[in-house]
Amino acid sequence: MVRENKFLEKAKKSKNDEFYTLLVDIEKELKYYKKFFKGKIVFCNCDDPYESNFFKYFALNFNSLGLKKLISTSYASSPVVGKEIGLFEHEGKEYRINNKRAYKVVVSEIKINNEDGGETLDDIKGIIRHRIRYLKEDGDFRSEECIELLKEADVVVTNPPFSMFREYVAQLMEYNKQFLIIGNINAITYKEIFALIKNNKVWLGHGMGRWISGFIVPDKYELYGTEARIENNQRIVSTNNCLWLTNIDFPERHNDIKLFRRYNPEDYPTYDNYEAIEVSKTTDIPYDYDGIMGVPISYMDKFNPEQFEIIACSAFSDEEYFGCGSLYVGGKKKYARILIRRKKEGVEDED
Ligand SMILES: C[S@@+](CC[C@H](N)C(=O)[O-])C[C@H]1O[C@@H](n2cnc3c(N)ncnc32)[C@H](O)[C@@H]1O
Repeated sequence: MVRENKFLEKAKKSKNDEFYTLLVDIEKELKYYKKFFKGKIVFCNCDDPYESNFFKYFALNFNSLGLKKLISTSYASSPVVGKEIGLFEHEGKEYRINNKRAYKVVVSEIKINNEDGGETLDDIKGIIRHRIRYLKEDGDFRSEECIELLKEADVVVTNPPFSMFREYVAQLMEYNKQFLIIGNINAITYKEIFALIKNNKVWLGHGMGRWISGFIVPDKYELYGTEARIENNQRIVSTNNCLWLTNIDFPERHNDIKLFRRYNPEDYPTYDNYEAIEVSKTTDIPYDYDGIMGVPISYMDKFNPEQFEIIACSAFSDEEYFGCGSLYVGGKKKYARILIRRKKEGVEDED
């Protein structure tokens, strides 16, 4: 019985395609890219405009960001399917939304009526109601219709289904789009994603782990995580295991990690099966070691491509994707490591 419960719990946790992003977390990350969005067409392609805080964020900030257009598409198989969620007007007629079908909202202008000059939630609801249009297909990000919208867009910002993350990123790369998306920290160790990071084609956003405070989950989900909570009737899990992945440049990613420690062979053993030293904490990277070093994957949060070069990842073996297979010290297997090498002359930090 206990075993069965554990199994069920695990299954529930793994169906994490139904995690909805909190507005506070979107605001926290997006504030670093404000200038970038001016004149851009933004596409949120896993985002039912009625439930997505990404759509809400861009609609609320449409004018202050200077957006050219905002497009948001829902997916017909979304967990909220079948719930009728209000009326909209089209060509003078009123319709009740059938969200068994997928729909889109396209916004090219937001006229502000209130005195403080900012969009309000009531404005947003009005915008959705008047501009909602059914899609012909099911809103799958891979459908022809959504790909046409993708081609039109400059940048995609969303939290896509975790179970399709590789395919999702591959499509963005194929269409040469800029993006800012949420993924699981483990995505760093997916060979295709790692190769993109190694080649400096994509990188991490401003924060990972606890930086993303939680996700809204449907009622049927069990709450878990140290900061799991119910807020404004929304069930929130705190997974502490996600990151932002992007190919939009920002100044902070070019800051050096400050290094304090000197190399010595006792504290930094060499791997049994690879010519590199083990550094078990990012803060312990020695400032004076010129060879290859194995660091935890959380190091990627602080990675500056001018300071260190990425050599390989131990989470997989495919050499064409820069995998080196598991690493061992004294016969003991280490956690997944990223192998890096210093590019610049290391300087001891005096702070
Ligand atoms: C992790 S949730 C995030 C939802 C929303 N982007 C947010 O951040 O709140 C992923 C969403 O993608 C939708 N989805 C799943 N498969 C999809 C697909 N093939 N194409 C488009 N959307 C999909 C799910 O219905 C779900 O709403």
